[in-house]
Amino acid sequence: MADRGPYERLEAALGHVEPPFAVVDLDAFGANADDLVRRAAGKPVRVASKSVRCRALLYAALQRPGFRGVMSFTLRETLWLHGHGVGDLLLGYPTAERAALAQLARLDADRPPVLMIDSIEHLDLIDAAAPARRRPVRVCLDFDTSLELAGGRVRIGPKRSPLRTPAQAQALARAVVARPGFELAGVMGYEGHVAGVGDRPPNPLLGAGVRAMQRAAVAQLARRRAAVVAAVRAVVPVPLVNGGGSGSLETTAAEPVLTEVTAGSGLFAPALFDRYRAFRPRPAALFCLPVVRRPGAGVATVLGGGYPASGPAGRDRLPRPYLPAGLKLTALEGAGEVQTPIIGAGARTLRPGDRVYLRHAKAGELCERFATLLLVQGDRVVDEVPTYRGEGQAFL
Ligand SMILES: Cc1ncc(COP(=O)(O)O)c(C=O)c1O
Repeated sequence: MADRGPYERLEAALGHVEPPFAVVDLDAFGANADDLVRRAAGKPVRVASKSVRCRALLYAALQRPGFRGVMSFTLRETLWLHGHGVGDLLLGYPTAERAALAQLARLDADRPPVLMIDSIEHLDLIDAAAPARRRPVRVCLDFDTSLELAGGRVRIGPKRSPLRTPAQAQALARAVVARPGFELAGVMGYEGHVAGVGDRPPNPLLGAGVRAMQRAAVAQLARRRAAVVAAVRAVVPVPLVNGGGSGSLETTAAEPVLTEVTAGSGLFAPALFDRYRAFRPRPAALFCLPVVRRPGAGVATVLGGGYPASGPAGRDRLPRPYLPAGLKLTALEGAGEVQTPIIGAGARTLRPGDRVYLRHAKAGELCERFATLLLVQGDRVVDEVPTYRGEGQAFL
């Protein structure tokens, strides 16, 4: 049999399915998972659930060697996953969900989920929402990782936490230990300016700037993280030190102080993750839209497609046509609410009823648009699994 291209392979598997639908290529997902584990260089990989948003695929990752635990994104989601048997949960962001805090306080579990905090106000909020609890609430300190230049007058990085210095982290660690009803479980610092910013953007000048910034950031952060963890461990010997993301596994895992790294997006390999030099994940999560009309030669219009990703609004947040090859969005219309014109060499032969596969710019957000994911292996659909949304869960 003649070799088939990627489009023909997808169509062989999915030609009978009516678009729109979303699909995860399990061969690519597995290869990406292996690559994340390789890049983590022996550190366990905690899966970022926000970047997957599908229980079946979270479990699929957790069953693979090298993965351990979930970094969740809301407390309601955390408790839902806990109720479904996920035992090792680190909520990656502070919560103000009072009802869920009260529910957490009633949980009878040896190792309840760990909450993220960065201030005394978070402790107060937890105490107010859940004054009586069965067990201490386990918390993790989230410290700021941004690159400080010009003696701290310039800061590059996510505006995440007020805890910057080892002394500040130590003071909060002392406050946690001194307060009844809490247990300090860990320290986390997420270097979004390294993990979440591709160092191979289309503009080469920008790329050189990003690489210089990231080199300085990685060196400074390694020193700061070691000092923050040492300061906290002088108060209490916390077992967990988490950091990193899909885009930074090499540099994060190289810091001896880390006990684990986090990754999620690298599994689906959305379009924004084409922009890293250190790794080339295989596009695993796609969605398929039908061509519905041809407004002119060289233009084909698909139904739907307007699923922009979060972050600073810009063209790179729009979905990217993937297969057949040689397609792109138009500058003026982008991705439309109901219709999306598509141009490029590949558009000339498209006719109504043909199908186009696109990639979301980010990972888990795709699952907020589709109730199920079709799982493809080789050229066969092997399963169809619900997304969070498909299970009636819209956490964010
Ligand atoms: C706290 C935290 N850790 C890790 C990550 C990395 O996730 P991913 O690998 O999906 O980029 C993120 C992403 O925003 C995050 O917020």
